[in-house]
Amino acid sequence: MRLLIGILLFHLSSSAQQILVSPYIQPGNASTLDYEEKVVIWQTDNVAGQFSVEYGKSPNQYISAEVQTTHLHLGGRHLILYRSVLPKLEFDQSYYYRVTLMTKPIMEAKFETRSRKPSSRFVIFGDCGVGSPAEAEIAYQAYLKKPEFILITGDNVYSRGQVSEYLQNYFPYYNREDAGPDKGAPLMRSIPFYLSIGNHDVGAADLGRFPDGLAYYYYFDLPLNGPVFKNTVVATGRADRVDTFRQVIGSRFPGMANFSFDHGNVHITCLDSNPHINVNDPELISWIENDMKNSKATWKIVAFHHPGFNSSNAHYEGQWMRALAPVFERSGVDLVLNGHVHNYQRSYPLHFEPKKDSTGKPLIGANGRGRVDGVFKIDKKFDGSKKNEPDGIIYIVTGAGGARLYDTALSEKPERWVHTPAENWMPFTVKLISRTHSFSMIETKNDRLILRQFDTKGNELDKIELEK
Ligand SMILES: [Fe+2]
Repeated sequence: MRLLIGILLFHLSSSAQQILVSPYIQPGNASTLDYEEKVVIWQTDNVAGQFSVEYGKSPNQYISAEVQTTHLHLGGRHLILYRSVLPKLEFDQSYYYRVTLMTKPIMEAKFETRSRKPSSRFVIFGDCGVGSPAEAEIAYQAYLKKPEFILITGDNVYSRGQVSEYLQNYFPYYNREDAGPDKGAPLMRSIPFYLSIGNHDVGAADLGRFPDGLAYYYYFDLPLNGPVFKNTVVATGRADRVDTFRQVIGSRFPGMANFSFDHGNVHITCLDSNPHINVNDPELISWIENDMKNSKATWKIVAFHHPGFNSSNAHYEGQWMRALAPVFERSGVDLVLNGHVHNYQRSYPLHFEPKKDSTGKPLIGANGRGRVDGVFKIDKKFDGSKKNEPDGIIYIVTGAGGARLYDTALSEKPERWVHTPAENWMPFTVKLISRTHSFSMIETKNDRLILRQFDTKGNELDKIELEK
């Protein structure tokens, strides 16, 4: 039955056509506050439709947008993906759009463009698209918060990031007609999703075995301001499928794995943290530094999937992103948002200096896994209310968006978070909540940032306030 949820059927007199994914908006290639656009995307089965897209500041002032049609031949399955770029939008503005099939409107929705005002409100969660009751509850609670955008910290869909999984475990929850705690919500038609790429999102990079793999690149349209690094996502398998995939996706693959954008007074840099990357790559390091330096935003946030600072038992050894802590510190990063570990964790503000090898580079995986030893400096005076000027970066794990929770026995039990030795773990975690699924919300206004964590019923689990 779940397969059918959220799927709209439209019967035409001449042909039967199935709209597999209703129109939704994406951020498009708009990163700084100099240019704004959105992209409308939807998908049908193999029966091509005569679609048109109109948009404007009010339904009385609609202008037409071009529709691009792309045929996807995914093994034995033929699907059609439609994209329509809404270019040159004004900032801080409501827009309406309508997608029409022949003469019948199939979507009429409203969205807000990015803000140039010194404020923001957005929701963050990760490890979500698994097709669970918790995924629906989190989607619904996120919807009630009326966020300006949603940021996913990776593992958008399970188990391998295939088209078939998005149709079953993703769109029926985040891109549906109605809202409810047992259903999900109509989020994506009005609220742009920005997504980091997790390990499950690249789990079907072998297009020979999985012809509908790497679907992240079909369904999302994100800023393309990040370079393509030497170590990045690689599509493998049958050469003809890889060639076709590359042709269809164009420059979005693999460039979309790293990008940044501004919204209000926040600058967010999304990184690919999968094991294929090289955290010591000088190009990656200088891109992060320059990206932060060039931003005038008050608040600087980095989002990626694999946490460097994690006190859970799950994925404890996968710490390679710790090596970038000094880069983040000298780039003025305030907060790092991660997923991968399916619970919620908040660190004290901290500085971390990794142990170096003989060439002066951070030493990663000396034990054959991903451990990074080093020296911690932890600001335990910060309490997020009275003492709210952190000395160091606060690291958040917010990977409780729907997939099975990890280490539930550790929830709110600091005595059970201990790892050894001291050069690898210090008591840097303030909160670890693993008894419930949850999501984060960040609100900024001028020099003040509030981060809150909510459970599946909307109860507040944690709250901190930061001030500059
Ligand atoms: Fe993961």
